[in-house]
Amino acid sequence: MATHKLLLLPGDGIGPEVMAEVEKIVAWFGRAGLASFETERDLVGGAAYDAHGKAISEDAMARAQAADAVLFGAVGGPKWADVPYEARPEAGLLRLRKDLGLFANLRPAICYPALADASALKRELVEGLDLMIVRELTGGVYFGEPKEIVTLENGQKRAVDTQLYTTGEIERIARVAFELAKKRRNKVSSAEKHNVMKSGVLWKQVVTAVHKAEYPEVELEHVLADNCAMQLVRFPKQYDVIVCDNLFGDILSDVAAMLTGSLGMLPSASLGAEDPATGKRKALYEPVHGSAPDIAGRGLANPLAMIGSLAMCLRYSFGLGEAADRLEGAITDVLASGVRTKDLAAPGANAVSTADMGDAIVSALERM
Ligand code: IPM
Ligand code: MN
Repeated sequence: MATHKLLLLPGDGIGPEVMAEVEKIVAWFGRAGLASFETERDLVGGAAYDAHGKAISEDAMARAQAADAVLFGAVGGPKWADVPYEARPEAGLLRLRKDLGLFANLRPAICYPALADASALKRELVEGLDLMIVRELTGGVYFGEPKEIVTLENGQKRAVDTQLYTTGEIERIARVAFELAKKRRNKVSSAEKHNVMKSGVLWKQVVTAVHKAEYPEVELEHVLADNCAMQLVRFPKQYDVIVCDNLFGDILSDVAAMLTGSLGMLPSASLGAEDPATGKRKALYEPVHGSAPDIAGRGLANPLAMIGSLAMCLRYSFGLGEAADRLEGAITDVLASGVRTKDLAAPGANAVSTADMGDAIVSALERM
């Protein structure tokens, strides 16, 4: 059996707590003889800043480059509010995305039947929801230059961020979206703002051209990103795959996450291009939620987004579809049996701890 090299970067806040639950599951898969992993761990974010004075060390970057996949917890917190911009915890995550070339961020939003009542929307709007946001992750306003604050002659300051996309960057993310749609319900909604942004004009043109030349059998619609946000809370089930730029994807995926009942439920995969020599892709898996410093260290965090991220890793990096199905099935079963962390529990109802939720998933895996 091939041994998969996993790098664990728990990070800050609730990151280490939710990662500890993933480690239980990784160990279980090994014991059960279903997969073989070799794990390393390192620091990222504020934890790395405290140890090394930067948000990720060169050593950790080298380990990330060498790993078959990276599992990432969360970064940031008020403790690091005043560190220099270049060393802020988020810079560690952005460097990983950029240096590993992880241009495709897959953010599924699935509403588990047992959680439909935890959504802020009515049950009938979210029950059975299953959509995928494909977010461009290494371009756009996150990385475009210039990115600066300059002082003008009159003493005023001027801040600039640059939204920038090339044809090639749009083509490759569009292909990821169309390929995924073919395995799902065959529909892609491309969100941009061509009514005010040149990058939106190009985005729409390029997605249209890729569709016409390579994927005419997939249904394609264009939607303005603001309208997409509105449609997501009006009638989310109209969507299958949504493809969009880095910033719109950041925002739309938070909206989509909340439809599913809790931000604590949503996993994500960040994938690079396939290496033509090995057929492998660089990959990083992380929950969509942040480090939640307000609840850190108290056993209150929901580890399911982190555990779901491991399931995506099994599926997309290691080709272990059955193991991924089993883990996702365990999540469904545990939720159906009524086990809830605090974020999911009805007001006044009993909630279990982070560790109890991880143990419940391991027991469910054993029963399956
Ligand atoms: C996300 C996060 C990050 C982002 C932050 C932590 C830099 O919000 O992954 O959605 O904005 O991309
Ligand atoms: Mn975000």
